[in-house]
Amino acid sequence: LLSQQIRAEFLNYFEQHGHLRVPSAPLIPQDDPSLLLVSAGMVPFKAYFLGQKTPPQARLTSCQKAFRATDIDAVGDLSHDTFFEMLGNFSFGAYFKEAAITYAFELLTQRFGLDPARLYPSVHPSDDTSAKLWGKIAGIPSERVTRLEENFWQAGPTGPCGVDSEIYYDLGERFGAGADQRPGRGERFLEIWNLVFMDSERLPDGRTVRLAHAGVDTGMGLERVAMVLQGCASIFDTDLFAPIREDFANRSRQLETVGPAQRDRHLRRLSDHARGACMLIADGVLPANEGRGYVLRHLLRRALVSAMSLDVAGGLGPAVPVVVSILGGTYSELAGGAERVRAVIQQEDVRFQETLVRGMEQFETVAARAEGGLITGADAFRLHDTYGFPLEVTEELAAARGIRVDLAQVEELLTQQRELARARRSTAVAGTTLLELPPTEFVGYDQLQADSRVSLVYPVLREGETYDHAGADAEFDAVLERSPFYAEGGGQVGDRGTLQWPGGAALVLDTKAPHLGSRVHRCRVLQGELKAGQEVVATVDPVHRAGCAAHHSATHLLNAALHRQLGEGVVQRGSMVSSERATFDFNWPRALSAEELVGLERTLNSAIREDLERRVEHLTLDEARRSGALALPEETYNEDVRVVSFGDFSRELCGGTHVQRSGQIGSAILTAEHSVGSGLRRIEMVAGAAAERWWETQRTQTAEIARQLRAPAGEVRARVEELQERVRNLEKELDESRRQGPREAEAATREQVGAITLAILDLPSQLAKKDLARRADQLASEIGQGCVVVLAGSDLAVKLSPDLVARGLNAGQIAQAACRQFGGGGGNAQFGQGGVSAGGHAAALATVRTILGSSLEEG
Ligand code: SER
Repeated sequence: LLSQQIRAEFLNYFEQHGHLRVPSAPLIPQDDPSLLLVSAGMVPFKAYFLGQKTPPQARLTSCQKAFRATDIDAVGDLSHDTFFEMLGNFSFGAYFKEAAITYAFELLTQRFGLDPARLYPSVHPSDDTSAKLWGKIAGIPSERVTRLEENFWQAGPTGPCGVDSEIYYDLGERFGAGADQRPGRGERFLEIWNLVFMDSERLPDGRTVRLAHAGVDTGMGLERVAMVLQGCASIFDTDLFAPIREDFANRSRQLETVGPAQRDRHLRRLSDHARGACMLIADGVLPANEGRGYVLRHLLRRALVSAMSLDVAGGLGPAVPVVVSILGGTYSELAGGAERVRAVIQQEDVRFQETLVRGMEQFETVAARAEGGLITGADAFRLHDTYGFPLEVTEELAAARGIRVDLAQVEELLTQQRELARARRSTAVAGTTLLELPPTEFVGYDQLQADSRVSLVYPVLREGETYDHAGADAEFDAVLERSPFYAEGGGQVGDRGTLQWPGGAALVLDTKAPHLGSRVHRCRVLQGELKAGQEVVATVDPVHRAGCAAHHSATHLLNAALHRQLGEGVVQRGSMVSSERATFDFNWPRALSAEELVGLERTLNSAIREDLERRVEHLTLDEARRSGALALPEETYNEDVRVVSFGDFSRELCGGTHVQRSGQIGSAILTAEHSVGSGLRRIEMVAGAAAERWWETQRTQTAEIARQLRAPAGEVRARVEELQERVRNLEKELDESRRQGPREAEAATREQVGAITLAILDLPSQLAKKDLARRADQLASEIGQGCVVVLAGSDLAVKLSPDLVARGLNAGQIAQAACRQFGGGGGNAQFGQGGVSAGGHAAALATVRTILGSSLEEG
């Protein structure tokens, strides 16, 4: 039975038994953040089992795409794969154990024709009912029913669950003999189907409760059933995998040199991983260093290592069409996305090759210093971690030279690194803090430089990048004991600057406060090494800070000016302040008029010129509110707040950094005002040095326009008006001359050559090629049936109506004959073209008449 037929037979069988057939859901779980990838047929139906949603019908059947990342390392034996297709039938309160076992037994023995004597069910030790049912329905004696503690299934740490009954197939003694071969142990008994009796739910607090309606979830691995029904030695010999494996084997240039066991392992891995990668990418997963993107990258890199070991010509890319030929008919997203899938795979391949080349040099160094034939764990880890060089490759290369790798030590380092990465992730995601960051004293309101000490430092891992603990250019996040760096907050971006220490320096690229009271400085090391405990001089970039301060203070003044101009109905919604620009969002039902904007800008700039003094007060939230300080309506503030005011003009709750006097802003320009949502407007502004640059750009642009218009700057407007007038006149002229087109067509003459109408348009001057064809078309549609000849300067075109073509006339041949003595010609049956001389029009026409005439005689 072909896999195609197995799929169809399964779904048909359950359809015949009242199940609704539903298509496979994508591999990326929809509305289920608890799972990285869909790992079983029941995943899309979780909410049905839990009674949270009503299924379209109480009985469903599907062939669901599934992926088990946990099995990546198991791939290589006879029956494990990562991506697989799971055939299943599902009951939501419609039936339970008896019907589920009856269906399974009937389908396997009667439709698929499996020998009942080779079926070995297993049940949970507590599940006597199922054990008895297997006797009653299938006549399988209780001693052939294995009781397995692990016969309990749940889709994740929480959710629906229940005991299950698995069906094993006895592959025969050639797959293993002896007492250790039994269901659940060894390769001889292959699990092909799992019937889960979902009657409970596991809650987040660990308790298990009964479901209102017990249901059934079954899963049959298509690949495994195909292996049994096709009599194959492994899933990789079935029609689902064999063509992929053969493709890799054919392209391998090392097949003979590696041992048979190694070769099988690599080929199986290649076929599984290439197939899995195709399906993941087709569903929208892209390689990344985290999450499902990491699963994909890991899969591809393992495949690429195997491709390298077998020296597969062309790598993984050429396998894509093979996978598509097997699964593209069933999964249109794969067929439709084939090119994209291949591009993604090839890109990853190129990236990996670059990594290998870089790593190879390092490996040589490391191998050269391996003492006593042992590469240290630290060295191997560094290769893996810093250079992305797979451990497996290190091992293989080492083995080829008769040296070993201290794997235990590598494992230790990997564990350490995983913990570090976890800590890093937790600081990156606000609110889910696992790692306690040490506190930082902020001293940046009054000073831009401070002596400090690094209390914690951890590397920054970014997509496609690796880091080096010691080298320059590495990026780190550092927490300092004291810091003058303002951390992103209140709309203001984080400070930049430098850290310096004896023998070393780092740029601070950004500063964030993932949680209250501590500051994380994103650093790029320029020189030396940054370690916890290091004393540093921390210096904020004064230009960046001044830019931020100017924009932040200007934003406060703008807020106050808006309230003055538009009234108290204005509600600030948010702002963004950087050293280059600021945006200010507020609720307002309509666009501001040009006059309103000019008025606003004037009020703002006059407040700047008044050189108002900035004051900072620390008040309780209540006091601040009563004092009339503006605040964001939806922001949650601490009990103790900081209030920043400029003279009597502006008063706001704020933690940001500001100029000392408003005059330091220089000037502010409102560059745009637009909508960013219903009832929400945004004003864009530049202030301080950025305002100056904005003017410079405007002036340069105006000067450039003036230069192009060849007019003094003062006359640009008049010049543009003049040009617009000219364009209008030219357009009129153009229209005029277009209207003359038909008049030329009228100049065409018609004559009869026997029964054939011959229309001729004879123009002395050249036409553009497309116009030539257009005129011929026009004329042809005017005459209906007949032959059209257009002569224009040195061009000739012939067009025949379909009836003439049907009679054997050929426009290309006519053009060829008519132009033979000139430039020659050709074309197809309907349309021909050629070159003539200006004086040769008459001669060419004569040839056309002759051909048309003689065709009549023949006809
Ligand atoms: N959910 C069960 C499994 O994946 C049966 O479909 O094995």
